[in-house]
Formats: sequence, structure tokens, C-alpha cells
Amino acid sequence: MQLVDQFLRKINYLRVSVTDRCDLRCVYCMKEKMNFLPKNEVLSLEEIERLCDNFIDLGVEKIRLTGGEPLVRKNIIHLINNLNKKKTSTNLKEITLTTNGSLLKRYAKDLKENGINRINVSLDTIIEKKFKEITRFGNLQNTLDGIEEAIKNGIKVKINTVVFKNFNEDQTTNLINWANSKLLDLTFIEVMPMSDTDMPRHMQFVSLDKIFKKLNNKYNFNQSNYKTGGPSNYFVSEKLDIKVGFITPLSNNFCATCNRVRISSTGKMYMCLGQNDYVDFREILRTDRGDEYIKDKIRFALSIKPKRHDFIINSEVKPYINRHMNETGG
Ligand code: 5AD
Ligand code: SF4
Repeated sequence: MQLVDQFLRKINYLRVSVTDRCDLRCVYCMKEKMNFLPKNEVLSLEEIERLCDNFIDLGVEKIRLTGGEPLVRKNIIHLINNLNKKKTSTNLKEITLTTNGSLLKRYAKDLKENGINRINVSLDTIIEKKFKEITRFGNLQNTLDGIEEAIKNGIKVKINTVVFKNFNEDQTTNLINWANSKLLDLTFIEVMPMSDTDMPRHMQFVSLDKIFKKLNNKYNFNQSNYKTGGPSNYFVSEKLDIKVGFITPLSNNFCATCNRVRISSTGKMYMCLGQNDYVDFREILRTDRGDEYIKDKIRFALSIKPKRHDFIINSEVKPYINRHMNETGG
């Protein structure tokens, strides 16, 4: 069984936001004052699992749990445990997680025991004071301890770093050297113009083209043939033991090879991170509809998956995306 969209792209990757809540407030992700959703608007773990089952039946092979922060969702390990059991008898091959790492110290062991072998940890700086500044009330040590705990438990950690203007542009080599010392691959990401935060996007955005050129002078990068099926373009260097990736939605479009769709914590399926259209599954899940109806809706959603995002960052243009990243988790 294979899922393809209207442009014949094979869709085998589902990203599921299990909560809109987060214990941090990264300045490029959220406003300082955010209203989080009441519980009854968020899918129950049973509803999430049923939706996942239908995607898996149709050909999804990889599921990533995101948020907000997925580890603040109560009983998240229970969901992971249930999903993990499906790997032996269904299309599902891998479950991963994108986390800010703050709760990993507590959960790393449970994650590993329930089949999570790889995670992405978001980390934009390794300077304590700066960490507080970008996350508004995070504590760097929690995240660093969390990363160590994950490594100790045999989970492969990849670091994701959003490059933010006048904040960490000058720390990219610092971060690379740190990641290299721990043998963790590292990916730099461009700020995307999701819904408004407390500062205009053009004051946040840095083109990774510029950063790449600077780093390339130092590391003499060679393109790596390593592919995760994602948008990251990886490079290797004789001076490094890790791969360094670049995710460049603005400076270099990669939509032609898109393989994914997303579910928000409220059950909306977003066919593209950079468009507003969605198909809502919550009411379907909460009324007496069978799985065939759900599958038909999923096929319909793929038949209208947009060709690409139209992200633009420019002082004269207001962001057209009307949701923050914590709805779909990147
Ligand atoms: N642009 C780019 N990345 C973002 N993230 C959150 N908001 C944005 C944005 N506007 C990142 C986080 C995390 C991932 C879930 O998305 O840093 O790595
Ligand atoms: Fe939380 Fe991640 Fe958003 Fe930061 S970027 S506020 S860690 S969801």
C-alpha cells in the first residue's frame, strides 16, 4: 500500500503534534502570552492512535511525535508503547520524537524501552544566559542533562538549531564544535514565517546561504549522500566527525521531494507546513464514522496537498500563516 499525493509524491511520513503546550516559550515560536487549548479540544491518546492506525494502514512508515513539547503530554509513553507494538505487524517502521530536551532526563529510559531509537533535540545555544533569553524561561542544564541521558540510554540524538538574527549567528562554529565533541549530528534551520510572534519576522530571519558560505570556508564541506528523507541537506568535513545539515525553506525550496503530512493536536491534518488548508478529523473521530470514511478523507486530503509553500519574509509582507509552530511542531 502506498500513499501518493496529487503530484505523485510518495507520502510515508506522518508528524503528529500531541499537545500545543510547552514548558518553554522560544521567541521565534510563541508569543510571551499564549492561550493554550482547553483539554476537550485536544485529541485523546485513543483518538490519536486511531488516526495513526489509519495512516499506517494506508502506507505511513514513519511517525514523529511533536508538540509543543511532546513530553509534557500526560501518559505520552503509553501512546508510544502502543504505537511501538505495531512495528512488528504493520507498515510502521519507526517512531521518533522532536523535543526541547528539558524532560528527557526523566523520560529517556522509558523512550528507549518503548522503541524510540532516534530523537531530535532543539537547542539554539549552549550559553546559559542566551538560552534563557531565547526560551524565555528555560534552563540550559536541564536540556544538556537530558541529552546526556538519552545518549546514555542508546538513543541517537540529532540537534536542531534555529538560526536567529543577532542572537546565535556568531555561535554556529561554537555549536558545531560542541556537537562534534559529543558526536551528534547538527542541523541549522531558517526561521519560518509562521503566525506572528512578538517581533517581526524580518528582524529574526537569517539566510542560511550566508552562514553556509562562512562555515564552508572553515570546514571545506563536501556534500554528503546521507538522506533522512527530510529537507535537510547534509555536509561532511575532514575536520569533523559529524554531519552538518541545513534546512533552508526560504533560501532554497525543497518541496518537490516532500514526503510528509502533519496532524495538529486538535486533529487537523495540515498537508503543508507552509499553507493554511487543513482537513479536520476531530469531529469525524468523535462521531460514529468508520475507518473507511477516515481513510477516504485522508486520500482526499492528499489529493489537495499543495505543491509548495509560499513562505516569504519581508518587512512589507505580513505572514500569511495563521498558526504558530506549536500547533504542528515544525
Ligand atoms: N521557524 C523555524 N523553526 C521553528 N521552530 C519553532 N518555530 C519556528 C519557526 N518560526 C522549531 C523549533 C524546533 C522545531 C519544532 O521547530 O526550534 O526545533
Ligand atoms: Fe516549545 Fe519548541 Fe516552541 Fe520552544 S520551539 S516554545 S521548545 S515548542
